[in-house]
Amino acid sequence: MLDYKKLSSTIIFIFGGSGDLNFRKLTPALYNLFLDDALPEKFNIVGVSRTDYTDAAYKKHLLEGVSQFSRNKPGEESWAAFSKHISYIKMDINEKSHYEQLEKIVDAHKQKYNETPSVVFYMAVAPQLVPVIIKPLSELKFCHEVRTTRLVIEKPFGHDLDSAREMNSILTKYFDEDQIYRIDHYLGKETVQNILALRFANALFEPIWNRNYIDHVQISATETVGVEGRGGYYENAGALRDMIQNHILQLLCMVAMEPPVSFNANEIRNKKVDVLKAVRRIDKSNVQDYAARGQYRKGWLKGQEVEGYRNEKDVNPDSETETFAAAKFFIDNWRWEGVPFYVRTGKRMHVKSTEITIQFKRAPDYAFPKEAADTWRPNRLSIGISPEMDVCLRFQAKRPGQSMILNPVDMVFNYKDSYEGEEPEAYETLLYDVMDGDATLFMRADQVEAAWEIVMPILEVWKQRKPVGFPNYSPDSWGPEDSEALIARDGHNWVSHFN
Ligand code: BG6
Repeated sequence: MLDYKKLSSTIIFIFGGSGDLNFRKLTPALYNLFLDDALPEKFNIVGVSRTDYTDAAYKKHLLEGVSQFSRNKPGEESWAAFSKHISYIKMDINEKSHYEQLEKIVDAHKQKYNETPSVVFYMAVAPQLVPVIIKPLSELKFCHEVRTTRLVIEKPFGHDLDSAREMNSILTKYFDEDQIYRIDHYLGKETVQNILALRFANALFEPIWNRNYIDHVQISATETVGVEGRGGYYENAGALRDMIQNHILQLLCMVAMEPPVSFNANEIRNKKVDVLKAVRRIDKSNVQDYAARGQYRKGWLKGQEVEGYRNEKDVNPDSETETFAAAKFFIDNWRWEGVPFYVRTGKRMHVKSTEITIQFKRAPDYAFPKEAADTWRPNRLSIGISPEMDVCLRFQAKRPGQSMILNPVDMVFNYKDSYEGEEPEAYETLLYDVMDGDATLFMRADQVEAAWEIVMPILEVWKQRKPVGFPNYSPDSWGPEDSEALIARDGHNWVSHFN
């Protein structure tokens, strides 16, 4: 069982309570928190949406989600105990008077438990509905309680820099920045949080974590799935918005940030914003040298024939949306000057794997006989984020025998072998942190905007210039040739646990 501290009384309202995110992620995460004894004793989960449900029918629907998607399958007794805390209200978000129901629920909770609860509003709705909801919400008296009322906002957070700024200004018009929790589920992953432990809790790495010893960094998030029925959303997003603007730039911040003076939420986020601000803005005339895009065609993946992107549901048959994106970034500060950070992401690729590679500079081999250095490889630290959860340090070792022959070998730390039991899912960590009022793993307005600033030149150029040769990569591959060329021009190649 995981070690959570007990939280004070809480009500979570889930807008979009009948939707997919709640079904697949939120309720299963809350159920696991319940099993781990991490939910407060006095808690209520209230689903809110337009659909007609009785409480019983709603719970039955959620049970299906938990049976399918929870890491712990529901036991009869535990589900009964957990679901006692769930209820449902039907609501038209455009109808101001309907919001009074929320106030009544909070009042009833107060009366029953004789305690003022923390109130979390989880916006599991389409982004255009968020402004509709938050205005009437902000008029409820208890929403002015900055310390105890919180809003959780899901991605996508804006479609570009302007829309993200507009969204931030609407949110901060009605709520205090400290009440706003913008989710990036990558930050909830154990392996991502471990990057800070690896870097700052060990004397070994930090002294060499800079341009003097590191040749380049790679961040790769490849997927075998296609767009999974989300063509409508994906057509307007594409890989750069869907993965790089948020998840991958957040990973880059974890790798590149300066040591924090404390684990205070704002301190950590300040250090990350410093990185984003230092990322060199790509000049629009050079975008082709710094970024590559691709789109998958029809083909075979692990023995199954799969459709090309243009044949997916809700996708334009002439779509120019990229399902693969790669980019090269530089961070113009003392630590990282001249060190390229290569990032890539794509759908329908050879493996599902998110990993970070720190490639160190080559050690001089003068002292060794020539044949010893034939398989000489620079040191490399690989951090498996998912599904492999490991840290692997590659170094040279002498092969047993008379001659001095060297081989690269790996020293591996693997979560599976070192820790018993399963790690919490990202949403468990994040939901717990929201209830606890800890914003460290959430995105602040300036972080989101700084990340948009970085990708805007690429987005703008890609919009103006038609992609050449789309679709340009096959399923089960490592993406388009342009991506290989992007890194090969600097004399490197993409590396992975799997090649
Ligand atoms: C989501 C993207 O944010 O992250 C999806 O919208 C993507 O397109 C998903 O599949 C990947 O998350 P994970 O945790 O499976 O790497």
